[in-house]
Amino acid sequence: MASSHLPCATTISATLPLPSAQPLFAKPSHFLTHAKRSPRLQVSCATAPNKNDSVDDTPQGKVDRRNMLLGLGGLYGATNLVSTPGASANPIQPPELDKCGVATNAANQKPVEFSCCPPVTQRIIDYKLPPVFQMKIRPSAHRVSPEYIFKYNMAIDRMKRLPQDDPRNFLQQANIHCAYCNGAYDQPGQGTLDLQVHESWLFFPFHRWYLYFYERILGKLIGDPTFALPFWNWDNPKGMTMPPMFVDPRSALYDEKRDPASLPPAVVDLGNTQVTDPLQLVANNLTIMYSEMIRVNANVYDFMGQPLREGGKPKGGGSSERGSHTSVHIWVGDPNQPTREDLGNFYSAGRDPLFYCHHANVDRMWTLWQYFLPSNKVPDKRITDPDFLNAAFLFYDENAQLVRVTVKDCLDNLRMGYDFERIDLPWLDYRPPRQTAKAKVLRTSSTAPKASTLFPLNLDKVVRFQVDKTKKGKADELLVLENITVDTTKFLKFDVFVNDEDDNATELDKAAYLGTYAQVPHKTPNKTATSTIRMKLTELYDDMDISDDDSIVVTLVPRHQGPGVTIGGIKIIENPSDN
Ligand code: C2O
Repeated sequence: MASSHLPCATTISATLPLPSAQPLFAKPSHFLTHAKRSPRLQVSCATAPNKNDSVDDTPQGKVDRRNMLLGLGGLYGATNLVSTPGASANPIQPPELDKCGVATNAANQKPVEFSCCPPVTQRIIDYKLPPVFQMKIRPSAHRVSPEYIFKYNMAIDRMKRLPQDDPRNFLQQANIHCAYCNGAYDQPGQGTLDLQVHESWLFFPFHRWYLYFYERILGKLIGDPTFALPFWNWDNPKGMTMPPMFVDPRSALYDEKRDPASLPPAVVDLGNTQVTDPLQLVANNLTIMYSEMIRVNANVYDFMGQPLREGGKPKGGGSSERGSHTSVHIWVGDPNQPTREDLGNFYSAGRDPLFYCHHANVDRMWTLWQYFLPSNKVPDKRITDPDFLNAAFLFYDENAQLVRVTVKDCLDNLRMGYDFERIDLPWLDYRPPRQTAKAKVLRTSSTAPKASTLFPLNLDKVVRFQVDKTKKGKADELLVLENITVDTTKFLKFDVFVNDEDDNATELDKAAYLGTYAQVPHKTPNKTATSTIRMKLTELYDDMDISDDDSIVVTLVPRHQGPGVTIGGIKIIENPSDN
């Protein structure tokens, strides 16, 4: 992508015009499609970020970032209230490298046959984000130029050739994921309790920092500080195949441990529905994106994942981690390998260069959700809890210096010096069409058993049952699936439908599809994990014209084979007003 190599000011004026011609309250996607660049970038390009202008964390920071896009950002607060004094203080601590131990392959419970531990160095520096003189623009992987591919290839090739004990070496970098995800680290001072960065609010921040240093190392290796990782644009139909540059066997970007059925031209299956019709897959994918980014989230934790504090175990990932993120891992991982290596298993995922491209898009989802989604959907997108903001990780930077980073420094990708190429977001307006076949649904519901007679439930086949609403005519409600206990050695996934009259679970592009639970195998004590998830019903009620009903009929459709999921209970609650 040519624009990533232009000086900052040129980038803005040459390729990213301001949204001057756009009406102020156009549909949100219009901002994204046409408002290609915002004053947000100009601000960050022109001034080196200052430790104290952590915009989103001020009370005044209620100023929505989209207002910045519209040039209304004069209220930008400069106060830093990130570290709320007197609040609880047990954020997750960074690992002790000298106590790094054996990692476990979560899928077979055997020790990983190589060490995932990084070299140990004594000196740790608290990382300070460097000033941003030139914004890196991460390009969509399907749109990059041959020159870009050449450079990227060269960078990865050089990374592979670094000495094996250099923490920037390709396999050392891959092992970061293994160490943080497969039980090589314990939480400091917490006995043998694992440090685990999936299935909680640490998911987005950890992976953001991981890619940040990976990208800087690659840039350093080719002497190009503007080098930016590509993102696999699987949320746009044009990006729904494996990006071509990764499938050339002569390339450093190639990995042979991938599902042969997922090579181009196969269309990515963000729902693991096993559908083969490519058009239906695209429709399903867009619906999944709409659901996990917009439809089901009532508060910040529904999207980001549940809190994880020192001494605790992960209590559940957010809608994006569970959904598209998990599906892509499973879709790429090779079912012919013993435990779905490389991408289908966390210990090996980082060995496939495609991992970082996939996660660059996951990271992009966080940015889009924070700054581009309509704020009437999720009123407050910030987490101000100090246990979140002060959670810390260790990485080796591009100079092989060990650094300690905190979550509060990674909340704004622009402060970190990178942005994403603007690409249309077709899912943003992909709300399913209204579906109001009421009579038929009511007839169906009369035959479905009450939820109370079925739970706790072992979910190994499709089940359908009735759940009572909080009261008749209540329109703003959430479906809560309580105590979902899973076997963490398996890939597990189920979809949730409401009043689904046609029972065709391969088509998700309909109002009756609500959302998804899914997990990649990950290391946990006792091979189990328990979480509770919530899905907002408000829009679905509206689309199906069932706000006035007394109950709904829920269908749970497992996408995995065999047992592994038990659901403790299911209920409907009012959408709490505090959010
Ligand atoms: Cu750390 Cu997609 O996984």
